Amino acid sequence: MTDRSREYTMELLATMVVEARALKENRTQEEVFREFRKSKTFENLFDSNTGLWMNGPDYISDEYDLEKERKKMNFETDIFNVFDKKWALLTAGNKESFNTMTVSWGGMGTIWGKPVATVYVRTSRYTHEFMDREDYFTVSFFPEEYKKILGVLGSKSGRDMDKMKDSGLTAKELSRSMTFDEAEVTLVCRKLFMQRLEPSNILDPDSAKFYKGDAPHDMYIGEVVEILR
Ligand SMILES: Cc1cc2nc3c(=O)[nH]c(=O)nc-3n(C[C@H](O)[C@H](O)[C@H](O)COP(=O)(O)O)c2cc1C
Repeated sequence: MTDRSREYTMELLATMVVEARALKENRTQEEVFREFRKSKTFENLFDSNTGLWMNGPDYISDEYDLEKERKKMNFETDIFNVFDKKWALLTAGNKESFNTMTVSWGGMGTIWGKPVATVYVRTSRYTHEFMDREDYFTVSFFPEEYKKILGVLGSKSGRDMDKMKDSGLTAKELSRSMTFDEAEVTLVCRKLFMQRLEPSNILDPDSAKFYKGDAPHDMYIGEVVEILR
């Protein structure tokens, strides 16, 4: 087969995929094509080494569906990584009096029909006092270059010093709480629920180890009322 006829086959297959999907999804062919041409499946179709072009349009369309599914799964996995790998600052209070600390335990999800963020704060933290006092808290995520600063804010206590002074972060007042100019994303959360993670209720011995001689965590569930970028 000549290069030209292979190319022609690839183009024909791409057209057939687009036509069939547009019909099925009740969308215009232009719309479907614009999306499809950005996909890995499309790239593979036009890469003769993958051999994808030797399959029928249904097979190629199924590959494209799989790619989309995988993308969705990656997004969900990312959510687990957001706290664990990226860390965040948990902040509560107002301009006159607030405190912030680094957190890497937390989650995002849905409860009582609301989008929520959950954080876990040891009762010994200074921030805990602010979490109890305030109706709102924020969870702020930062670009990678701020990780060192987050390390410091997660090892010094606002009870002993002015943590903000040399942090290099600029506190920013919001109508209901505080965040920082340098944050790339801030979740503004309204407290919905608080409960102690009673160490004697922890079923897994490995997790119970976190409380040998250390204060328990209180769990705070907050409704995400705003996402600031
Ligand atoms: C990466 C990292 C993650 C942390 N995650 C949490 C957490 O999820 N919950 C918590 O209670 N403390 C956590 N800490 C510890 C607090 O950030 C730390 O004790 C901080 O100094 C408390 O400050 P504060 O006393 O001013 O509130 C973490 C610390 C680091 C460095």
